Amino acid sequence: MLSPAPRGGRFYFMETTTLPPVAATHDYSVGMRIWHWANAALISGQLLTILFLKVIINTKAAGPEFQKALGPGVALSQQQSRALGHVVSERIWNWHIGMGLALAGFWLLWTLMQALDPAGRRFGARLVAAARRYRLAPPAEHADARHVLLAKLTYAAFYLFVTIMVVTGLALTWADDVPWLHSLEHSVKEVHNFTMYLIIAYIVVHVGGVVWADISDDHGLISRMVSGEDSRKPDQV
Ligand code: HEM
Ligand code: HEM
Repeated sequence: MLSPAPRGGRFYFMETTTLPPVAATHDYSVGMRIWHWANAALISGQLLTILFLKVIINTKAAGPEFQKALGPGVALSQQQSRALGHVVSERIWNWHIGMGLALAGFWLLWTLMQALDPAGRRFGARLVAAARRYRLAPPAEHADARHVLLAKLTYAAFYLFVTIMVVTGLALTWADDVPWLHSLEHSVKEVHNFTMYLIIAYIVVHVGGVVWADISDDHGLISRMVSGEDSRKPDQV
């Protein structure tokens, strides 16, 4: 039976006897795709800055190497070698802060997209729809509905992690200039640091999950996040 259903202020006809489809979103808007890849690049860039600072260059442990490079004719004090290390690390931190501010801009863009996107495309609405599908799905579709809901829950977790990263990152950026932020700096750094591991865990699960879904039962999922188009015929979706 067909009946009109309100959606985004307009009326569409939908079947009242069937549930909304279990399959993942198939049309990724341009805004969402730009957001996704820019955000992925910036977060990977942020992780790279940390990899360089703490592992590859590790200026704190480079003192003996500085001394070796200068040779026995020059005696480098601990303070001088720290100052040299500081010059290198400061350059990388500037990149971290620059990309961090861009990430904060994309976070703001995402928040605006949530307000401006048609109701059905907003993340909150898609999460609620996935939860509803899972609750109402007949036994044959239960596993698929659970899978879609779990994927959406990982996205919800990611949006929480990135919000924490942006808020704590901005606090650290201005910690030296604002006295009350300065007094919180140590705890804020710990939260910022810890959330990085949650973000790394998210990326491992997410990339593993989408590659697996693309290979197994949702062919073309990754290309759709690039091109936005679903090349399959409707009966294959
Ligand atoms: C730092 C790296 C990445 C981050 C932070 C990230 C983040 C996200 C987020 C938050 C979503 C959910 C969007 C939404 O529905 O609101 C998403 C979806 C998606 N991502 Fe990523 N992503 C990353 C890397 C990748 C990579 C490398 C690929 C491809 C191999 C990829 C492919 C996809 C696809 C296909 C979807 C849509 C899945 C679906 O509709 O359920 N992502 N990503
Ligand atoms: C996924 C994104 C991010 C990751 C993985 C990340 C990771 C880190 C890590 C591990 C630290 C070192 C903390 C410590 O020394 O204990 C750090 C410091 C910092 N982060 Fe981020 N961060 C991210 C996003 C941001 C954002 C959005 C900003 C905002 C601008 C930001 C600004 C800073 C600042 C100012 C510091 C302190 C730098 C210093 O000690 O001189 N970060 N970040």
